[in-house]
Amino acid sequence: MQAQSTRRQFLRQTISAAAASLLPWSALSQEVNGVQSLRTHAEARGLLVGCAVVPEKLADEPAYANTVAQQANLLVAENAMKWKALRPAPDKYNFAPADAILAFANAHNQRLRGHNLCWHEALPDWFQSTATHANARRLLTDHIQRVAGHFAGKLHSWDVVNEAIDVKDGRPDGLRKSPWLELVGPDYIEIAFRAARLADSTALLTYNDYGIELDTPDQQQKRVQVLALVQRLRLRGVPIHAVGVQSHLTAGEGVPGSGLRDFIREVAALDMQVFITELDVSDHKLTGSPAERDAATAKLYGDYLNLVLAEPNVTAVLTWGITDKYTWLNHQHPRSDGQPQRCLPFDADYQPTPVFFAMRKAFDSRRQTPPALGS
Ligand code: XIL
Repeated sequence: MQAQSTRRQFLRQTISAAAASLLPWSALSQEVNGVQSLRTHAEARGLLVGCAVVPEKLADEPAYANTVAQQANLLVAENAMKWKALRPAPDKYNFAPADAILAFANAHNQRLRGHNLCWHEALPDWFQSTATHANARRLLTDHIQRVAGHFAGKLHSWDVVNEAIDVKDGRPDGLRKSPWLELVGPDYIEIAFRAARLADSTALLTYNDYGIELDTPDQQQKRVQVLALVQRLRLRGVPIHAVGVQSHLTAGEGVPGSGLRDFIREVAALDMQVFITELDVSDHKLTGSPAERDAATAKLYGDYLNLVLAEPNVTAVLTWGITDKYTWLNHQHPRSDGQPQRCLPFDADYQPTPVFFAMRKAFDSRRQTPPALGS
């Protein structure tokens, strides 16, 4: 009798294990959805959390869409709101893919960031032959009026100007020698922010940049110039509410520390928020097994988030993608051994990675109620 029931139990377990392996991914990942999700854990700490998204994947790939719906309360378009995507020709606007992201966000009770209105990259092919000293200012303000106007009242925030500082270009003000600088002059930044405010009075207007995370001399210099830029804008009464710290980190390259912490506090002193806008950790410098690489990557995520989330004016964390399947890092920093990058909270099969658990733990350690911020 005893032996028979043990045998029956064994059979039942074997059958349910076999059935589980046939279940859709969603049933297997139950423990990271709903109350266990990054989204719910972030919301408990008053934090926005999310990722960059690709509209075609939201439409065509249920595992992708479900993961984004479960894990994020804030989205950003990885490419769909850049000039190149929105402006197929000088007089043509293509809002459909970006609108699809907004519709997805609204359907899932998520906010959306705009990225971006002014950048030296992702300009359409026609730009170079069309933009001149005479018309560049008008091109910029018309674009902002039309694009920010299209989304007015519907966005959490806009990256108004992206990556305007490049210290190695050698200018005393640290400005990058971008087409906008060359065609419009150094005022282009102020012009862009004022135009964005006119077009959308509610989105939080953000200056976004990279290479300002580490305690290296280069990155310290860049932080000084970014801060000086933001301070100049504030002094001149330019509408700007937040700094975006992109946070494209590399495992094995150094760990962010007091330089970034002090920078975030200087931004707080200007009554401004900080968004972690494009977090990911490239593992192209790591050797070792996937498990060893994952441990190092997850540790950097945890250390980084603990550092920045200790600052109450850090109010949002976005990763640059949700799944390793589509990370830009496979193109940006391909591994020399040909292995794919493992850099995001979900792996290429939509299973949670050690990064997921490091992020969730860091959210849980965040102080409960951040003080109210002026906008
Ligand atoms: C990247 C996208 O991820 C890629 O798909 C695209 O080919 C190039 O741009 N900083 C930014 C982002 O502000 O817009 C960039 O996104 C990554 C670096």
